[in-house]
Amino acid sequence: MSVELSQAGQVLTATNLSAGYDGRAIVQGVNVEATPGKVVSIVGPNGSGKSTLLKSLVGVVPVLAGTVAIGSRDITNFAPEKVATLGVGYVPQIDDVFPPLTVKENLEIGGFLLPRHDVAGRIEAVLEFFPRLKEMLTRKAGKLSGGERKMLAMGRVLMLAPSVLVLDEPTANLAPMVATQLLEEYIRGFADHGSTVLLVEQRAKAALRISDWTCVLGGGRVVLEGAPKDLERDPVFVESFLGGAARH
Ligand SMILES: Nc1ncnc2c1ncn2[C@@H]1O[C@H](COP(=O)(O)OP(=O)(O)OP(=O)(O)O)[C@@H](O)[C@H]1O
Ligand SMILES: [Mg+2]
Repeated sequence: MSVELSQAGQVLTATNLSAGYDGRAIVQGVNVEATPGKVVSIVGPNGSGKSTLLKSLVGVVPVLAGTVAIGSRDITNFAPEKVATLGVGYVPQIDDVFPPLTVKENLEIGGFLLPRHDVAGRIEAVLEFFPRLKEMLTRKAGKLSGGERKMLAMGRVLMLAPSVLVLDEPTANLAPMVATQLLEEYIRGFADHGSTVLLVEQRAKAALRISDWTCVLGGGRVVLEGAPKDLERDPVFVESFLGGAARH
């Protein structure tokens, strides 16, 4: 029996979304739509609100105005566990694993919403996908390398076979080759298998390579968006993100 890692995607939509902390909007009037089979990426400078936007989609930061929907279902300000049960897997930028727990325990926690008898089968499916984790099941997550830790963080989210993946800088601190593999093989692969992928990525060039659509966030607003081939020709985008000062 083969256990599917992810499921056919659902549409995740943010409409006129404002979100922030202590009632103060950081993200303002954002419209984003992520659809099955596609990778939508969000790029932008540090502090532009990328993480806040993702957090507000998955119930970690309050939505102050506008709506979040999965398909036709309004999920605005649903609790994070509820969003997870509806098929949205979220990998945060930091605190993505529990360091004192083993790799296996982290995966088990990822499966907390599953019927007990499904957990072992799911762990096996995740280990088939990330075979490297198989060799370190009893190791504490705090003792993994950066790349292994990212795999575990994604593996934890894959325990619930999500239909929508929301990933906040999955390649942060990874060596360029590992980052490229994660993006081009795994993350693009989820979309190619029909899942919906919404990705925040610092490496603008690499993000464009695997994306169907890219939004540029500046000061909490979408300041530019388009298909990668058009953004690559946009002088403002090139100057800001692909020019001499760009991170590759
Ligand atoms: N918990 C918080 N309480 C108050 N303000 C916050 C909180 N978290 C983030 N902010 C502020 O919100 C703004 C946007 O932060 P956010 O983390 O969304 O940016 P980002 O685009 O993800 O940045 P980076 O590229 O550095 O990850 C920043 O000014 C930040 O200081
Ligand atoms: Mg961030």
